Amino acid sequence: MGSVVPLASVVDARLKDAMRQALPADAAEIDPQVRRSDRADLQANGLLTIAKKLGVNPRELAEKVVAHLDPEGVLAGCEVSGPGFLNLTLAADALLGQAAERLGDERLGVPVTDSGITVIDYSQPNIAKEMHVGHLRSTIIGDSLARTLTFAGEEVIRHNHLGDWGTQFGMLIQYLIERGTEWQDNAAGEMEGSLSRLNQWYRDSRREFESDAEFAERARNRVVALQAGDPETLEHWREIVSESKRYFSEVYDKLGVLLTDEDAVGESFYNPLLADVARDLEESGVAEISEGALCVFFDDIVGQNGERIPLIIRKSDGGFGYAATDLAALRYRTGTLGADRLLYVVDARQALHFRMVFETARRAGWLPDDVTANHVAFGTVLGKDGRPFKTRSGETIRLMDLLDEAVDRARVVVGEKSRRLGPEALEATAALVGIGAVKYADLATGRTRDYVFDTDRMVSLNGNTGVYLQYAHARTRSILRKAASDFSTEIKVHRHVPLVPAERSLTLKLDEFDAAIQEVTTTYEPHRLCSYLFELAQTFTAFFENCPVLKAPEAEVRDNRLLLCALTGETLKTGLGLLGLEAPDQL
Ligand code: ARG
Repeated sequence: MGSVVPLASVVDARLKDAMRQALPADAAEIDPQVRRSDRADLQANGLLTIAKKLGVNPRELAEKVVAHLDPEGVLAGCEVSGPGFLNLTLAADALLGQAAERLGDERLGVPVTDSGITVIDYSQPNIAKEMHVGHLRSTIIGDSLARTLTFAGEEVIRHNHLGDWGTQFGMLIQYLIERGTEWQDNAAGEMEGSLSRLNQWYRDSRREFESDAEFAERARNRVVALQAGDPETLEHWREIVSESKRYFSEVYDKLGVLLTDEDAVGESFYNPLLADVARDLEESGVAEISEGALCVFFDDIVGQNGERIPLIIRKSDGGFGYAATDLAALRYRTGTLGADRLLYVVDARQALHFRMVFETARRAGWLPDDVTANHVAFGTVLGKDGRPFKTRSGETIRLMDLLDEAVDRARVVVGEKSRRLGPEALEATAALVGIGAVKYADLATGRTRDYVFDTDRMVSLNGNTGVYLQYAHARTRSILRKAASDFSTEIKVHRHVPLVPAERSLTLKLDEFDAAIQEVTTTYEPHRLCSYLFELAQTFTAFFENCPVLKAPEAEVRDNRLLLCALTGETLKTGLGLLGLEAPDQL
């Protein structure tokens, strides 16, 4: 299972062997730079650098390396060209063998590279508030990282760090008690409505808190009651939390992400651990009292006035905040859960917070050197006006509305392109295309960049979009259907048949799948996989235009081409799956 070594890596290893035989020791360790090339299948430019370093004639040096190069089973040719690079031509039977081997493997030959435990902190909406586009980004990116790391062999623990605790609940609960507001007896279908109402009450309670000193006092007492575990107060809190969670689950269902109720480990979970965190930090000297608050300072983190900016563990009124919770969560994840890697998929604007939290945890010994903590930061979602995405009146745009809009647009596009779909199939397809489009547009953008939320562009059939890739996948399926061939029982390949350039390009592109996945598991940037899949789809299109498949000149050529179609389809499907997109056989 897994582990088909890419031909480029095999060639790289062969070249290094040859270099070790032909060159002085230190020069032999320089990267030969094996890359795809238009002139041959692969090109190696690294020898030029070496020749320069050694002060010798580059062509002569290259010839010397070639004399030691073992072509057996891989290379059909290798020639020195230009000032001294190598043009490498792969043997057709090696290319075809590679494709057949990948198709025959359930992991498409992708090796298992990871074996640790990773906790991914993502989605993290706040109870009693609307989920906004920032939470959408976190949910989508986190979902894709969870899927990709799991595929790579990692044990992934998903944590939805819900904002379900804090002083704001005092206000809201007090408000609900005083108004005697009935909100929990909604029919299930009105769930969205109930969250908007909760959201509205949340805002009303804040307004009251700010304008009415007596209410503010009662709300503060309510916080104390909540923290002390007063049963009536807790009961209200639980209802609010479960109502919000039901709404979040609806969004997750609509989005088709992995998150479930079990993954919800909100801020409240860490409440019982906060006092210990503070005590340990104070006793170890990592934190100190400053103006009544318990703070951690960093020499290199200073404000504009030159004063050091503290990470506040405990406020002067004795309350714990966001930072204390994050430290407790971190300690729990490395200590109790034994995580080797922590990922926090959170807005880039929280970079300083995480820098301070990680540094504090290192000093406290809760983040050992062999455990990595990464703020997987993402940029802001903008409206078409280029400003942070809000409604005209400045309100947060409701996620459900956005998703519905994307599905509406997708329905139009799919309806025009696939006229044979019946109403039910159209509806199902519109949903998976529309949601896929939103996810893909998010993932395909460089993670830290801001992007404009534009549903028309997202569902476009042209360009680097989810729909384009879904159609490319469906096209491979349709060819196989017409050929009445699905390779599920037997893989037919004729390795002695020569290949034309478009076939070679496609096979080599397919051979790069593992590299694309590994880029994601090491940089946490799903757009790298998107770019790969887009290039694969384009390479497939070029192949399809140049190489008739069903009407291939000979039966053996046809079989080989069908093999490439099948592997392209599987690779697109697997890749889209890692991004959280569905790839139906027919669109
Ligand atoms: N709930 C927070 C927000 O909406 C994000 C939480 C991020 N995760 C964390 N461990 N701090 O801004």
